[in-house]
Amino acid sequence: MKLKVLAAALVAVAPSTAVFASEPIQPIRPAQEINLAQAELGKKLYFDPRLSKSGFISCNSCHNLSMGGSDNLRTSIGHNWQEGPINSPTVLNSSLSVAQFWDGRAADLKEQAGGPIANPGEMAFTHTLATSVLESIPGYVNEFKLVYGEDGIDIDKVTEAIAEFEKTLVTPNSRFDKWLLGDQNALSADEVAGYELFKNSGCVACHNGAAAGGTTFQKMGLVEPYQTDNPAEGRYAVTGKDADRFSFKVPTLRNVELTYPYFHDGAAWSLEEAVNTMGRIQLGKNFTPEENAQIVAFLKSMTGDQPSFAMPILPPSAANTPQPQPFD
Ligand code: HEC
Ligand code: HEC
Repeated sequence: MKLKVLAAALVAVAPSTAVFASEPIQPIRPAQEINLAQAELGKKLYFDPRLSKSGFISCNSCHNLSMGGSDNLRTSIGHNWQEGPINSPTVLNSSLSVAQFWDGRAADLKEQAGGPIANPGEMAFTHTLATSVLESIPGYVNEFKLVYGEDGIDIDKVTEAIAEFEKTLVTPNSRFDKWLLGDQNALSADEVAGYELFKNSGCVACHNGAAAGGTTFQKMGLVEPYQTDNPAEGRYAVTGKDADRFSFKVPTLRNVELTYPYFHDGAAWSLEEAVNTMGRIQLGKNFTPEENAQIVAFLKSMTGDQPSFAMPILPPSAANTPQPQPFD
């Protein structure tokens, strides 16, 4: 009885719910309840390399919004041309994840955004220096005051604004979403077959929810160990529990055709390779070339509308703005 009432209520709210309600992956919804003024400010900060010691590296350097929110490098390059320890995940749809980073060490986007600014291997600055740069720039002083209704810039406001901007980076309207919402013609027969394989083989046990990932931490190499020389230990670094060794946040598969190379070590350069590896080491399955091609075709149908906006014009530095230090 209760269930019936609930179902009726769902239908009343969203008539198309029934089409995808029983599916393990749900459509991406457009961003909701965004504080537009904060997001506009956050967009500027996201693109502003003056938040780095070198004055050269912005969030967009490693999460390039023209390249699926990633850098398409095996591992990122940070301050002073340092080779980063791990692959840069996409920022697209990251607001849908249970936690941030491969090991989930940041609870949310706001907490995450403070990390790279002060990370010596990334932007190599300090929060105090970053805010003092912003405080020297009259355009920012005014905009922070307008957005927050008070004087003063601190790291809390900076990370809050960046996180608000990142909430806008969702990618609805992929062909797969149109299909989930009832448009039978949105996918080809091969893509539908690929989705069926994806479900029936067990991929959805881990890659589920609106982002087709980001809902749980899972062992990399469940059935067969994953061979890598990357020293990352995954979730173990956060919990210290042996059971969490080599457990990583399941990455989103939204826009995955744009976010190569794959895995935390960036070892797989093609989706074909990533799908075969997953089948083998997570599920003990060897896909035929045809099955592999169908799954890859399905994955590519999850590329949605990419963020589109006018490039932000950043307020110019002033005479007293601390100068960038690109070289140590
Ligand atoms: C030098 C390259 C680099 C820069 C600059 C950088 N990031 Fe990252 N970012 C990374 C890497 C690498 C990771 C993964 C680190 C990890 O999981 O240990 C990451 C992780 C993230 C994540 C988590 C995504 C997920 O799915 O877990 C978000 C969100 C993010 N960065 C946003 C930002 C923001 C905002 C900025 C600017 C303040 C920024 N990044 C600057 C390389 C970079
Ligand atoms: C037991 C959980 C689990 C299952 C089952 C699983 N995956 Fe994964 N998948 C993960 C985890 C965890 C990662 C990230 C691992 C890493 O990089 O260390 C991942 C990574 C990926 C990636 C790379 C994404 C990126 O951005 O790096 C692809 C593609 C992928 N999986 C596809 C699949 C497909 C296709 C299947 C079914 C054949 C599948 N997965 C089954 C947990 C799983």
